[in-house]
Amino acid sequence: DWRAVDEDNPVPVIGLDRPTLDKDLKSVSDKDYVVIDGSPQATSLAISAIKAADFILIPVQPSPYDIWATSDLVDLVQQRIEMMDGQLKAAFVVSRAIQNTNIGKEVATALLDYNIPVLETRVMQRVAYPNSAALGKTVFDTESPSSNAIQEITALVSEIQTFFGEE
Ligand SMILES: Nc1ncnc2c1ncn2[C@@H]1O[C@H](COP(=O)(O)OP(=O)(O)OP(=O)(O)O)[C@@H](O)[C@H]1O
Ligand SMILES: [Mg+2]
Repeated sequence: DWRAVDEDNPVPVIGLDRPTLDKDLKSVSDKDYVVIDGSPQATSLAISAIKAADFILIPVQPSPYDIWATSDLVDLVQQRIEMMDGQLKAAFVVSRAIQNTNIGKEVATALLDYNIPVLETRVMQRVAYPNSAALGKTVFDTESPSSNAIQEITALVSEIQTFFGEE
């Protein structure tokens, strides 16, 4: 839906919601980076997405409901990390955090029990995100370079790149 809003959107998006995604992906993409948008449910689709991934980013909203909801997925991710002998990396990112609240920090502490690191960068709740999505764009197209949204996403990207030794 996002891709369809703007015909000049340069990001190729494909629907591959099949349990064979990990195998299909190899034949459809020769890109350096492929983002697989998953779901929090531990389905056969989630399993194949996990198999296809080099890095798993798990967004969690700063609420205990989100932390509980993610636990089955985290089990799957941890099993796969063990199987891959450290070849696969994973991290949580706190998303939709609300300015001037401490709950983001509390959530980060609660997540430590899962044994998967929590990124230092937090994505805040900002109208810039739905506003850019409504235009079929990202905040990099709609916000000024000094905006908070661009700054936090840039920080998020460079933090993820450190997992690949690409800083
Ligand atoms: N950082 C943010 N600031 C403001 N609104 C946000 C932010 N992140 C997400 N939203 C809004 O929250 C809603 C849900 O976001 P999103 O679709 O990314 O969640 P999701 O977990 O992927 O949901 P689904 O399971 O349906 O795919 C959307 O309306 C989106 O615009
Ligand atoms: Mg989604």
